[in-house]
Amino acid sequence: MTVEAFDAVDVIATKRDGKALSREHIDWVIDAYTRGAVADEQMAALAMAIFINDMEPREIADWTQAMIASGERMDFSTLSRPTSDKHSTGGVGDKITLPLAPLVAVFDVAVPQLSGRGLGHTGGTLDKLESIPGWQAGLSNDAILTQLEDIGAVICAAGSGLAPADKKLYALRDTTSTVDCIPLIASSIMSKKIAEGTGGLVLDVKVGSGAFMKDMSKAQKLARTMVDLGTAAGVKTSALLTDMSTPLGLTVGNALEVRESVEVLAGGGPADVVDLTVALAEEMLRLAGKSDVDVRAALSDGRAMDKWTAMIRAQGGDPSAALPVAEHTEVVTAPESGVLTTLDALSVGVASWRLGAGRARKEDPVQAVAGIELHAKPGDTVTAGQPLMTLHTETPERFARAIEALESAVEIGGDAASVPESIVFEKIS
Ligand code: URA
Repeated sequence: MTVEAFDAVDVIATKRDGKALSREHIDWVIDAYTRGAVADEQMAALAMAIFINDMEPREIADWTQAMIASGERMDFSTLSRPTSDKHSTGGVGDKITLPLAPLVAVFDVAVPQLSGRGLGHTGGTLDKLESIPGWQAGLSNDAILTQLEDIGAVICAAGSGLAPADKKLYALRDTTSTVDCIPLIASSIMSKKIAEGTGGLVLDVKVGSGAFMKDMSKAQKLARTMVDLGTAAGVKTSALLTDMSTPLGLTVGNALEVRESVEVLAGGGPADVVDLTVALAEEMLRLAGKSDVDVRAALSDGRAMDKWTAMIRAQGGDPSAALPVAEHTEVVTAPESGVLTTLDALSVGVASWRLGAGRARKEDPVQAVAGIELHAKPGDTVTAGQPLMTLHTETPERFARAIEALESAVEIGGDAASVPESIVFEKIS
C-alpha cells in the first residue's frame, strides 16, 4: 500500500483558509488525483476553494507543471522546420484553425494543432472537420511527425497521454461550476500546449458574450497569466484579445463552418474571418522568426488551399466531396428596419447547439449539418421582414427551442458606434 505524503483534507483546508499551496502540496494532489488516491469530491472541493480564493502566480506555475508531469510530452525537435501553434479560448463560429494551419504551413513553419471536441455552446475543431467525408481525427505520434515533416500542418485529436490530470479535472470542473476561473483555465490550457511541445504559441483570448471572459479586464488577466506561463516554460508565447460579442463570420455549425473556411482558403470569405486568420498567422510566423512575408497573398493565390487539400487527404478526407446539407431549414427575419447593432454571440451559440451542432455530454453525437447561417452582421442596415438567419437541422422538432434562445439576440436601431471596428483589440506579449 502506498503511504501518501499528505492528506487531501489538509490541502483543501489550506486553500479554503486563503493560504497558498506549497509546490509539494500541488505535486502531490495532482499526482494523487490522477492515480485515483484523491477522490472526485475532494478535488471538487479544492477546485471550488481555488475558484473562491484564487492562486498566486507561483502556485499557478507549479499547478501547470504538475499537470504536464502527469503525462507524456511531445518532441518536435527532429523536424526540419520551426513549430508554431494557436489556441483559442473558444467562441461561436470560431473556425479559424481550419484556414490558419495550412496558411502558416505555406511559409515552412509547422503547425501541430492538437485539438478537442466541442462542449456546450462553443464548437470543437474536430467536430467540424469530421463533416468532411472520410476525414479521421486520430493519429499516432509517429503519423503526426510524418505529416508535419511532409505537409507542415496537422489538425488531429490530442492523445490521451497529454496532461491526463487536466482531462479528469476539466470534466470535474464542468459539472461543479468551476470552469470560469483564471488559474484553472490558464493552467488547463497551458499544460496541454506546453506538453504538446510547440516552439511558438499564439493565444486567441476571446472577449464578449460568447466567450468565457465577458469583460476586457478579466480577459487581459487571463492572457497575461498564460503568456507568462508559456514564456517561463521556454515557449515563445503571445496573445491577441479578440472580439466575441458576435459570432465570427457568417456561419455557426460544423459543415457550415467548413464551407466558410474553404471560401477563405479560396481567397474569399467574410472580412472578419479573413482578418483574424491573417492576424494570427502573422503573429505565429513572427514567433517562428518569419516577419517579412505576405500572408494575404497565400490565400488569394491558392498556396494555402493546396496545403489544405494535402492536409485533409493525408487524414483520409476527400477535400472535393460535397459537404452534407440539412434537410430542414427555417428563416428568422428582422422584426423592424434600422441598423443591426447587436447579434449576440452567446444566444446564437446556444441556438446552434440546440439545433444539434453541439453536445451536452461528451459522449453525445453531433449533427454535421446543424447550425445557423447569418445574413447580416452588426453594423449592417436591415429592413423589416428581411432574412437575418437561416437555421439548419436534421431534426425539425428542435427549431422551437433554438428560436427561443434567439429571442433577445438581436437589437436593431441602437448606437452603431458600439459596433467594434476591428476584430483584434490588443496584443499581449
Ligand atoms: N479550455 C481548456 O482547455 N481548459 C479550460 O479550462 C477552459 C478552456
